[in-house]
Amino acid sequence: MKDPECIAFLQWALPQLQLRWPGYRKVRRQVCKRVDRRIRALGLEGVDAYRARLEADPAEWAVLDDLTRITISRFFRERDVFTYLCQTALPELHALAAPGPVCVWSAGCGGGEEAYTLAIAAREQAIPVRIVATDWDEHQLVRAREARYSAGCLKDLPARWRISAFEQEGGEFVLHDDFHRNVELLHQDIRRDMPAGPFHLILCRYLAFTYFDAPLQREIAERLLTRTVAGGFLALGKHESWPLDAPGVIEVQPGLRVYRKL
Ligand SMILES: C[S@@+](CC[C@H](N)C(=O)[O-])C[C@H]1O[C@@H](n2cnc3c(N)ncnc32)[C@H](O)[C@@H]1O
Repeated sequence: MKDPECIAFLQWALPQLQLRWPGYRKVRRQVCKRVDRRIRALGLEGVDAYRARLEADPAEWAVLDDLTRITISRFFRERDVFTYLCQTALPELHALAAPGPVCVWSAGCGGGEEAYTLAIAAREQAIPVRIVATDWDEHQLVRAREARYSAGCLKDLPARWRISAFEQEGGEFVLHDDFHRNVELLHQDIRRDMPAGPFHLILCRYLAFTYFDAPLQREIAERLLTRTVAGGFLALGKHESWPLDAPGVIEVQPGLRVYRKL
């Protein structure tokens, strides 16, 4: 599929899935390659025929929805965000949650990179944590269970943590079992299901607030708030922003996209 065809197709299809084109602009080739493969698997002529197929067959929309998932992640992604979460938020939440553990939810956890980053940081500071990590992509959850990563995935992680938390096997790094213990992995579509909580910290980064359309972003944000304790934190990606105008959360530092529930 040529790029202009890909753009036109996505601009037509994404809103019908409550997804937003600007979120996909930079990663569109990934999605279009998958759509191309799907067109070939169906034996169709091209993207126009696929569009006709979608119009005739409502079940095909679920297949397309699957093809739109973007799965990029890494440990300690956006260092200043994780520095804040590990050095400031975790100790404060430790005091707030005492005598219980700090409850964390990584929504759209990919291969577990965010969840395990926090598990490592908490262990270093002897802070008890219970982490729930959810993703809609089974393949990502298999990766998270295996907890085996390339060096590139760990490039932002402080070296001392890479050394203390991972075993190097050939070119890969395998997370020690100790760090899995407090991380529960769940297969959930955030549009339909969320863990009950309440949570002291929710990470919802590069999922709803990049790829979902504005009404769905607001709906997800409202539901995240119901699962966050007062004084708890919500971490978004640095290229995202909180979609609700209503008071109730404040950004802890301009541009960090870490919000605190009042
Ligand atoms: C771009 S990755 C971001 C991973 C991680 N949050 C980060 O920022 O590094 C988005 C993740 O969200 C997952 N995802 C996409 N749609 C989802 C949905 N509706 N419900 C739950 N997870 C979803 C994808 O499978 C993927 O693992």
